[in-house]
Amino acid sequence: MKATMLVALLVAVSAVSASSAAVAQNLEIIKERKALLKEMGKATKNPGGMLKQEIPFDLAAVQAALKTYQANAPKIAKLFPDDAKTGGETEALPALWENKDDVMQRFEKLASAAKAAEAAITDEFTFMDEFPKVVGNCGGCHKKYRKDK
Ligand code: HEC
Repeated sequence: MKATMLVALLVAVSAVSASSAAVAQNLEIIKERKALLKEMGKATKNPGGMLKQEIPFDLAAVQAALKTYQANAPKIAKLFPDDAKTGGETEALPALWENKDDVMQRFEKLASAAKAAEAAITDEFTFMDEFPKVVGNCGGCHKKYRKDK
């Protein structure tokens, strides 16, 4: 009798903690990853204009963007824990949480592509060839895992 009551109590307690774990989302983490992603977006703005030949080529700005990708990608990759799925105006799609290995590999690929491009880009010609390969990683991931606006 006593044992049965204890088991019932334990089950009740674990049900409560499981349900609160499911709703308590870590909004700080969502904020942090969005800020790091935003930084990458900002860094991409000028090189994007250079690709479209709207603004003059500037090697230093290109190299700075490539450094930002290398610095931020591994940090962002760590900011997708299971308690940061919803809220905080996240644009991460449900598919992301089912394909976390793929997402992590994509962030690694972005960083390694940025590293390779840092060495390969020395002038406007090499920029035109190499930079799109790097930022193709952004769009590729967004298409699968980020809400369309
Ligand atoms: C492996 C996947 C992946 C890669 C690679 C990636 N992103 Fe994203 N990006 C996301 C996801 C997921 C979100 C939505 C995050 C959220 O709202 O929680 C996002 C959101 C953003 C945002 C919006 C941030 C905000 O203010 O809410 C910007 C800007 C952005 N990404 C820029 C970039 C740029 C630039 C690159 C490439 C240099 C890049 N991303 C590469 C997955 C990726």
